[in-house]
Amino acid sequence: MLEYWRSTVGKKQIVALTGAILVGYLILHMLGNLNSAFGPGADEARVDWYASWLRDFGEPLLPHAFVLWLVRVVLLGALIVHITGIAQLVKRYREARPANFPAKRIGRSIESIAMLGTGALLLAFIVFHVLQFTTFTIQITPVHEHTVYANLYWAFQKWYFLAIYLAALILVGMHLRHGVWSIFQTLGLDSPSRNSMLRHGATALVVVLVVGFASVPILFFTDVLDPPLTHAALIALPGAFS
Ligand code: HEM
Repeated sequence: MLEYWRSTVGKKQIVALTGAILVGYLILHMLGNLNSAFGPGADEARVDWYASWLRDFGEPLLPHAFVLWLVRVVLLGALIVHITGIAQLVKRYREARPANFPAKRIGRSIESIAMLGTGALLLAFIVFHVLQFTTFTIQITPVHEHTVYANLYWAFQKWYFLAIYLAALILVGMHLRHGVWSIFQTLGLDSPSRNSMLRHGATALVVVLVVGFASVPILFFTDVLDPPLTHAALIALPGAFS
């Protein structure tokens, strides 16, 4: 396994595989978020019910939140391996470049520079996002445990959170447009007869992801979705946080 990781081909394939795991998570996350579109509900928002269902999943056979933590460990592991692999590949390409070779030619195409740039910005977004909605370290708008709908509602009443999330989704789109296609190629799924279908498939997947993600903050910001009913959220009257 270590030999495989040390080889350039192996490293590329592991970067592709971990990328695929991260894309898989994004698809599930986007679908989960769409539960917000059902509104605050009569006594519980559907997205809140979904969030507790995720935590209770597998009980009583498995401990509380076991699957959630398993997913978190896999995600973090995939992210670390993905970034380490890329960093080592870039270093390897640059070292392999003859001294007088034009810098633009190896590992320096516009696309690869864009992938590094969008990737780094996305990493910064992920840190900010987890601090806001998972650890509740960023408390600019009211955030509480077990009230996902209310947390999202109050956050997306603010234009600047809408702007940050839409900007992050543009980065997701840019990174994945090239990334998903690269995954297909590196894992050897491409062939002249299938390429056009794979390219269109990659683009369609990215469009669905970005539009699906973006719809939730937009629906909150435009007040298409009603305010939350939960007690914790009603304490936090909107005027108090302007
Ligand atoms: C409009 C877009 C998004 C919204 C509204 C949103 C919303 C949320 C919420 C509410 C949580 C906490 C869930 C819970 O506690 O059960 C969360 C967690 C998370 N989100 Fe997002 N998210 C968005 C986009 C993204 C994107 C683009 C990424 C990655 C690039 C991402 C990565 C994560 C991660 C890693 C977590 C932590 C998962 C965990 O705690 O287990 N999210 N998101």
